[in-house]
Amino acid sequence: MPVTNAPTPPTVSKLVTSAPPERFFGYYPGTVAVVTAASDGDRNVMSAGWHAALSAEPPLYGVAFGRARYTYRLVMASRAFAVHFLPFEHARAIAAVGSTSRSSGIDKFERFGLATAPGAVLDLPILQDAYLAYECRVSAVHETGDHDWIVGEVVAVHHRPEAFDEGRLQAGAAVPGTVYYGRSRYEALGSGRQADFPPETFRSEPPEG
Ligand SMILES: Cc1cc2nc3c(=O)[nH]c(=O)nc-3n(C[C@H](O)[C@H](O)[C@H](O)COP(=O)(O)O)c2cc1C
Repeated sequence: MPVTNAPTPPTVSKLVTSAPPERFFGYYPGTVAVVTAASDGDRNVMSAGWHAALSAEPPLYGVAFGRARYTYRLVMASRAFAVHFLPFEHARAIAAVGSTSRSSGIDKFERFGLATAPGAVLDLPILQDAYLAYECRVSAVHETGDHDWIVGEVVAVHHRPEAFDEGRLQAGAAVPGTVYYGRSRYEALGSGRQADFPPETFRSEPPEG
């Protein structure tokens, strides 16, 4: 098929090089995932911008976890995690669970209004507002710099049919996914609607009740 809407190449300027690197940036935008984990009666949720599909057969999904994350401890203890993708209408909650830690004692599900149901296969909270969720059993842990790249075999998939078209592509207009630009900026996938959620917003919120 001929390409009919190919963009005109922009005028190029010279590449600016820094070696060793001064800044490690510019790889965003990308979708942002929300990860849940549970162990020994405890549970938690955090955001993850560093995540990827790794294999189709078997289905494998990887997430980079900072070792200081409370969620990381739950994942290592239970050998399980769930990866979710939420519509833009929940961008504030995505920012909130990525700006606050269970280490401070809060239940982020309650605090930020995230409804859950039990997993189909694994003992995990599944976010009911997700348009796509994977239940993952940990199959490998790789130390990667200041994060661990944790690989999970996907043992169950949950999806909202209206979020996908007949070709299984995301139907952005029906349920716009959430894109992360970095520096607390989120966009409704494909719409140009953006919102900024600085982390201080959540850290200074008084507890409910
Ligand atoms: C948009 C966004 C993306 C993030 N991506 C990651 C990530 O890929 N890996 C990670 O370990 N932390 C990531 N974080 C930071 C954690 O979500 C954050 O440290 C969170 O407070 C951890 O919560 P916990 O200590 O309750 O587990 C991200 C935060 C935001 C807001």
